[in-house]
Amino acid sequence: MNMQRIEVKEGNFNLKDYQEAYKQFDWEDVKKEFSWSETGKVNIAYEAVDRHAENPDKADQDALIYSAPDREEHVTFSQLKKSSNQFANVLSSHGIEKGDRVFLFMPRSPEFYSAFFGILKVGAIAGPLFEAFMEQAVRDRLEDSEATMLITTPELLERVPYSELPHLKQIVLVGEDPETNEEGFIDFHKEMNQASESFDMEWVDLEDGMLLHYTSGSTGKPKGVYHVHNAMLQHYQTTKWVLDVKEDDVYWCTADPGWVTGTSYGIFGPWLNGVTNVIVGGRFSPENWYKAIQDHGVTVWYSAPTAFRKLMSAGEEAVKPFDISKLRHIASVGEPLNPEVIAWGLDAFKLRIHDTWWMTETGAQLICNYPAMEMKPGSMGKPFPGIVASIIDNEGNELPPNQMGNLAIKAPWPSMMRAIWERPEKFESYFLNGWYISGDSAYYDEEGYFWFQGRLDDVINTSGERVGPFEVESKLIEHEAVAEAGVIGKPDPERGEIIKAFITLNEGYQESDELLEDIRQFVKKGLSAHAAPRELEVKDKIPKTRSGKIMRRLLKSWELGLPTGDLSTLDE
Ligand code: PRX
Repeated sequence: MNMQRIEVKEGNFNLKDYQEAYKQFDWEDVKKEFSWSETGKVNIAYEAVDRHAENPDKADQDALIYSAPDREEHVTFSQLKKSSNQFANVLSSHGIEKGDRVFLFMPRSPEFYSAFFGILKVGAIAGPLFEAFMEQAVRDRLEDSEATMLITTPELLERVPYSELPHLKQIVLVGEDPETNEEGFIDFHKEMNQASESFDMEWVDLEDGMLLHYTSGSTGKPKGVYHVHNAMLQHYQTTKWVLDVKEDDVYWCTADPGWVTGTSYGIFGPWLNGVTNVIVGGRFSPENWYKAIQDHGVTVWYSAPTAFRKLMSAGEEAVKPFDISKLRHIASVGEPLNPEVIAWGLDAFKLRIHDTWWMTETGAQLICNYPAMEMKPGSMGKPFPGIVASIIDNEGNELPPNQMGNLAIKAPWPSMMRAIWERPEKFESYFLNGWYISGDSAYYDEEGYFWFQGRLDDVINTSGERVGPFEVESKLIEHEAVAEAGVIGKPDPERGEIIKAFITLNEGYQESDELLEDIRQFVKKGLSAHAAPRELEVKDKIPKTRSGKIMRRLLKSWELGLPTGDLSTLDE
């Protein structure tokens, strides 16, 4: 595909001269959109929910349209205010206070959102966990954050090793009839029914914590990325300009709140803008998704390349039975957005799919395509106003256009992480000469468009989900048959990358299909389905450096039949 340009459209961000807009922009002006700029009192839950509930024009507007195969429910801003107040009261009555970590491990549901905002209203820090996590993944996150309370369902409780987590004092069970006789268990529905609908919100500082998102790096266990209330400035403004929402839009972000997209743009972005937010439960299928767009009249849709590729392979036939004509704006995040997917979108939806680039650590979009901008398919777009992005070398010097290097952002920006939980040295390691180093390689062209090239570390991006090779390797070697393991991402047309594991077997074990399947299942059941290797290959040896580090780079070259490069550190 050549670098054809796609013409501009009208949008909220209509400033024709990007350079000029970029120069004039000031985050200070965004503050004026929020009542705290006058009252001095801050809480993102107030700005996202209560503010609209107190506005007679908006109180009875649907904040949430929840749609799952077995349940459909509409929740207005006014109702969401009340139910989150109720949950805040439940939390308070059990001693939860500002700064406490309260985790959520449950599927998306109206209860999830009441609980989420209840946590923020007492000033506590919310830690959403992806519902498909298995025991090890849940344990690692609850241990590291020293969470004192968990909100989960009776079905998911078996994956929570609560008796081995000394800090975890209380568990709220959201279920029909949870067995809550054991000490420390709280029945969500019972206590919600008894709780008052008014609550005296805990007003916090802009720099106070609101969210912990765990994410993977190339080494070590997942790390807790810590975000503060101040992030709302960027959630609000990027949703307005990049996702282009207007008050009467029906917005759908497909991401689960266990990942950062599902909070920044599945919760905060739309609600800070007072927009109706569709949440779809159940499994992905092209029919279910198109039906959701049709039935709820979705106008703005934020999803991921892996989903668009699946829809593309289902063909235009799959979309034909549905009326999705209300859809007017589409954006994408999580992995490179292939030009052919954009071309397909122009055909199938008659709309551009706008690529956006950001990370868990950045908290919100940084490099984006806007309605008002000419798009070059394959490019992530240009830095958002107020954001300075560049390409730097390993010494921290800026590189000229068309040279590949570290994609870096001038620190800070409003939604930037403020810490890695309890790991200050890890946090520091992200920064060089005042630049935040993303771990991605990229270049920019003469017109300032950024082009993604790849990850610089060994982090795997499978279907838009970030997986650390170390986590998977650690789990693999817990299996009795596995001696050593090296894990890489292998390019895959639909998923971006799949996880491929190279293993050596302990003495007494013979390679067989059954054994490999057993090992796969072991990772799947222990960690999570998306972290389980799709391919496993038995080797005599796993290549290591003299200092004992697994040479994943070499494994990858073997896999892809590429030159092996410098092997001077390889251990004989
Ligand atoms: O490698 C980049 C890729 O996803 C990484 C961030 O993953 P995560 O923290 O899980 O956040 C995902 C959603 C915000 C990045 O370092 N990535 C994200 N967006 C893009 C992308 N790669 C290419 N193009 C993108 N638009």
